[in-house]
Amino acid sequence: MNGPFRLLLPLLIAIVVVAAIFRAAPRAPRRRLRRCVVLFAFYASAIAAEQLFGALQPPFSSAAVPLGYVAQALEVLLIINLVAIALFDLLFHLARWDYPDIVHELSVGAAYIVAAVWLMHRSGVNLSSIVATSAVVTAVIGLSLQATLGNVVGGIALQLDDSIHEGDWVELENKVQGRVRQIRWRHSVVETRDWDTLIVPNSQLLTQTIKVLGKRNGDRAPHRMWVYFNVDFRFAPGQVISIVNEALQAAPITNVAAEPKAHCILYDLAKENRESYAYYAVRYWLTDLASDDPTSSLVRERVYAALRRAQMPLALPATTVFLSQDDPEHAERKRSREHAFRLAALQNVELFAQLSEEERVKLAEAVRIAPFSAGEVVTRQGSTAHWLYVLTKGRAEVRLIGSAGEEKKVAELKAPSFFGEMALMTGAPREATVVALTDVECLRVDKDDFREILARRPEIAKDMSAILAQRRVELVAVRDNLDAEAKKRTMVTEGSRILESIRDFFGLSGDR
Ligand code: CMP
Repeated sequence: MNGPFRLLLPLLIAIVVVAAIFRAAPRAPRRRLRRCVVLFAFYASAIAAEQLFGALQPPFSSAAVPLGYVAQALEVLLIINLVAIALFDLLFHLARWDYPDIVHELSVGAAYIVAAVWLMHRSGVNLSSIVATSAVVTAVIGLSLQATLGNVVGGIALQLDDSIHEGDWVELENKVQGRVRQIRWRHSVVETRDWDTLIVPNSQLLTQTIKVLGKRNGDRAPHRMWVYFNVDFRFAPGQVISIVNEALQAAPITNVAAEPKAHCILYDLAKENRESYAYYAVRYWLTDLASDDPTSSLVRERVYAALRRAQMPLALPATTVFLSQDDPEHAERKRSREHAFRLAALQNVELFAQLSEEERVKLAEAVRIAPFSAGEVVTRQGSTAHWLYVLTKGRAEVRLIGSAGEEKKVAELKAPSFFGEMALMTGAPREATVVALTDVECLRVDKDDFREILARRPEIAKDMSAILAQRRVELVAVRDNLDAEAKKRTMVTEGSRILESIRDFFGLSGDR
């Protein structure tokens, strides 16, 4: 075979071979192969037409020459496409170079331009005159293609600066989220979770602020998600949080990362300053960005079940109006309920065991309920004392802060207990810092009320001095790193010293 047919058979064989390899690599894009087959069909038709017209009498035979040029042009296009397939879809694929689509398309485009120039040159077109007149043409084409060129440049820039890749999950400025399927030369294809496809012009991707989801420092990372729920104010936030945390972390949830752990926070005390319930949020880290809603649903189920088990109903999603009865009987009932609670708390405290019933009732009138959440400082070392604290619920830690700011644990207090007595009884500043370890509930006894009791009941001060002395020794032992022997000696000296200072302070001199 020669003349115009010389490449027909090799190109046909090339297409068949490429098609066979494509079957073996099922993920390679079919449209490229289809383009080759179509080009080949045109090419074969052009050759056939050229032969046909060549065999006819003039003037028909003159059509054979342009048809020959067309066949040549198609031949070159076909070769370019086949070489591109061999290079990008077979060779690079085997070398596992995951090149972006745009590289393929721009290379083929550049090859087309070179081929067109070469073909024109071969067929005797005067290129220099074209170049001379092309300035105006270029300006016209440039203006009309401004938007398209912007997109092409955008596509190239996106590839070069490595900020967005195919497969990334992104959120556009209009809050639509999706996975980048392809970055093409003019636009990028983004597929949403609703099975829709967005065609985003590349220039827009460059000018918008795009959120790349689940990615940090260029690496894949789980994406943090928020799930909200409400519980009314009857339940202490610390309790709600610990119940929800335990349920979330007790067993894995599909598509929720084990680390960082899913956890609950108190998000707001009154949503939008209107709703009368506490507003909580669970934050978890999603491992598969495609299934955000189903995973949030699983998390909500976990939260719901945990709250049901703890008898904590979700708050009604409406503003609740509390109507309080202000009649004297109701107010009295409420007062006596609170009073009974405070009295019961005081009865549990050894410190006030010596008080008569009447005195305790009087004290119960004066005390105030003071809750603290875990981690809060109840008394601070060095500050002036105003209250004695009776710990009725929870645990607290006594800490000593050294001159260099280092913290040392002195003791742990568990309800029922009391603290803050040292400063009140000696008149000195707070000796230590007391921090709530859990959510705690305290009764605050005003220093004047407390002193009044001590003045009337010097024996309480006397009994307390023993506790005080022991606490003081422990404090000094921690501060000065004392061993057991030194601690015992300090106990003797400190005990009497403290008793002295208490008696001086309260003017209990006759009671030695
Ligand atoms: P105050 O000094 O008023 O404030 C800090 C409180 O920590 C202190 O009173 C005591 O009530 C308490 N405290 C100090 N040392 C100890 C200790 N060793 N054991 C228990 N409580 C202590």
